[in-house]
Amino acid sequence: MTDDFIPNLPAFDDAALDAAFAALEGKARADAAALDAEAFRLQWLGRKQGLLKEVSDRWLKAAPAHAKKAAGERFKVLKELVEKLAEEGAASGPGDDALRAQALDITLPGTRRLLGAEHPITRTMNEIVSVFAAMGYSVGTGPEVETDYYNFESMNLPPGHPARDTQDTLVIANQERRPLRDRLLLRTHTSPVQMRVMEQQPPPIRIVVPGKVHRNEADDATHSSIFHQVEGLCVDTNITFSDLKGTLDHAMKALFGSAVKTRFFPSFFPFTEPSADLQISCIFCGGKGCRKCKNSGWIELLGCGMVDPAVFAFAAEKQPAYDSRKISGFAFGMGPDRIAMMKYGVSDIGQFLGGDMRFLSQFA
Ligand code: FA5
Repeated sequence: MTDDFIPNLPAFDDAALDAAFAALEGKARADAAALDAEAFRLQWLGRKQGLLKEVSDRWLKAAPAHAKKAAGERFKVLKELVEKLAEEGAASGPGDDALRAQALDITLPGTRRLLGAEHPITRTMNEIVSVFAAMGYSVGTGPEVETDYYNFESMNLPPGHPARDTQDTLVIANQERRPLRDRLLLRTHTSPVQMRVMEQQPPPIRIVVPGKVHRNEADDATHSSIFHQVEGLCVDTNITFSDLKGTLDHAMKALFGSAVKTRFFPSFFPFTEPSADLQISCIFCGGKGCRKCKNSGWIELLGCGMVDPAVFAFAAEKQPAYDSRKISGFAFGMGPDRIAMMKYGVSDIGQFLGGDMRFLSQFA
């Protein structure tokens, strides 16, 4: 309590005591009406700072001997009044303010916790991975910030190779003082993980590598500068192009339905020889020709080929067992973003990374 409120009494005669206690009685009644029971109890009966304690200290204890009795009687009356008001307040329950603070409005909508769901690209990548897992493939991973050596050179794309231009690259700044092979860049494909895995373990190898890649490309409906790939690598003795065809034909049927047909077109990748593009019969028209397949009946789905002996030679620097006279293998790389577009009828690739909940919640 403040000194202002319970002032020291200038005089202790009956008239002065009556006036002082009457004023306090008035205040007690006003407080009882305005405060909730707990606040009133603290204000008046609080043990350390309650008003009654203040009155006792300033008026009773300070009273001269001849006025102690008169002051004590009036204090007793005031104390009884305060206790009665406190009891009444407690019996009538919490005040309006306290009630409002505790109120539970059961007509308000509850707090709904939205369940998370797999992003459509993650779902597609998981589906692809599980198709290959069922054929005995395990999952490999590698860094998104990669060196020039792993992304290009060891994949048989030496400095200045024209095929580097097909993967316009985002490089990390201030690397000029490093040798070219150690300079850092954002990987443009998941193929460097082929080399990282081969360096770590001798053949046989069967892995798939789902991951994010980056290219300095203008975004449009089917191109994104950030997209995903699932790489595959199989190395063993006597792996032939027939193994490649059989494996991918089975995978496409598992992914798109058993009616899907596959065909292989000659293509070029520096890290495979021979190289091919795999096409599947159009999943929308069954191969008759429609707008989606540009009336060709076929949709291009991935790049693949037999691992180039030059790639094995780089791997053999760390693992001599990659001797292309003794082992062979195939590799492939597909784009799950475009596969998810087909599967879910998405016309703009940009929607996958746009973060629009109205779009994403359709896949929940
Ligand atoms: C490659 O990146 C090769 N590394 C694939 C490969 C691996 C071939 C192993 C042979 C052996 P390409 O640049 O074609 O190839 O990309 C592969 C797939 O990524 C394409 O089929 C396509 O689905 C997807 N893709 C490429 N660029 C984009 C892009 N800007 N936006 C979305 N998807 C893309």
